[in-house]
Amino acid sequence: MVDTAGLISYANRRWYDAGYEQRQLVGCPLSDLVSPIRRPVLMEALNSTLSGHPVDNLDLQILRGDGRVGQFSVNLSPMRDEQGIVTSIVVVMTDITDSAMLQSKLIHAEKMAAVGQLVSGVAHEVNNPLTAILGFADLLMENADVPEAARKDLRVILQEAQRTKQIVQNLLSFARQMPPQRKPVQLNGILRRTIQLRAYDFNSHGVEIVEHLDESLPPVVGDSHQLQQVFLNIMNNAYDAVRETGRPARIEIMTASLGTYVEVSFRDNGTGIGQPDRIFDPFFTTKEVGKGTGLGLSICYGIVREHGGEILCHNNTGAQGATFIVRLPSVSESASIGVAAGVVQR
Ligand SMILES: Nc1ncnc2c1ncn2[C@@H]1O[C@H](COP(=O)(O)OP(=O)(O)OP(=O)(O)O)[C@@H](O)[C@H]1O
Ligand SMILES: [Mg+2]
Repeated sequence: MVDTAGLISYANRRWYDAGYEQRQLVGCPLSDLVSPIRRPVLMEALNSTLSGHPVDNLDLQILRGDGRVGQFSVNLSPMRDEQGIVTSIVVVMTDITDSAMLQSKLIHAEKMAAVGQLVSGVAHEVNNPLTAILGFADLLMENADVPEAARKDLRVILQEAQRTKQIVQNLLSFARQMPPQRKPVQLNGILRRTIQLRAYDFNSHGVEIVEHLDESLPPVVGDSHQLQQVFLNIMNNAYDAVRETGRPARIEIMTASLGTYVEVSFRDNGTGIGQPDRIFDPFFTTKEVGKGTGLGLSICYGIVREHGGEILCHNNTGAQGATFIVRLPSVSESASIGVAAGVVQR
């Protein structure tokens, strides 16, 4: 309950469950609990309620007692005395933090599914004529009657058709609905193999790789090829980002076991992410034409999700560059072998 001056006059038990004490709340302006940028909106709603017009479903960020900010849906209703004058306001706040987050994840997942369907249709259609182009170009190359000048052009056709095939392959693996293989795998090993794949290139371009791998990392259940693809994509992106800056380049790769899941993080000192809300979208790329298709991270997203995990990213605080984090559910040795054998259903 709030009085006509906007001060809290009563708070129910739930506020104390949320970490507040009575003396902190009673007499305190309601607006103090709201994040500063939304305070004008609250003030406007309070005024409107005081003049007799209730306000429903106001979205506000509210500071909880433990210091965390939550997303709340707020309803304000005026209370009147016998003369009909508004004497106080009943404020009902519903914590919608979880459902707001779930909703945005759901929208993203639906978008990905729709794009996936479209993409796989197109990719399959393109695949057939492409196979014919590659096949006939190959045949012509083997034909001794074809003059050298024409061969030169043929080589370009073959090369570009190969490149298209790679893109189509990426599209198909992005749209792939195949479930991952389920075997207990050691992420450190997969990471080391992936680093090895790129070590030569990284070394020769002065990109330093620092490993902090937790040797007691529990296994996860998954598909080592798909996970390798995820790590490779993230590393290639980091490589592109650090090379763009011209600074001494560095990529730190860390593994850690955090209770029920295992975390792999890739921290680079590159350009940082310009549009963090778009980078998992298929075809979103900031790279020049012919360099990136914008599929790398959307493929990673799909693979990690099929493994029951999540992939996150953020720009480093207080330092240059970005960090990508892959979280996968960890399984105790015996349980994971059970899953691999199909004994335990997950
Ligand atoms: N480590 C990073 N630092 C800064 N920006 C990044 C980083 N990783 C990804 N990005 C941004 O996200 C975009 C999308 O990445 P994604 O891997 O999906 O596609 P791409 O690398 O552009 O192309 P592709 O992977 O298909 O060759 C990149 O173009 C880049 O702008
Ligand atoms: Mg990429």
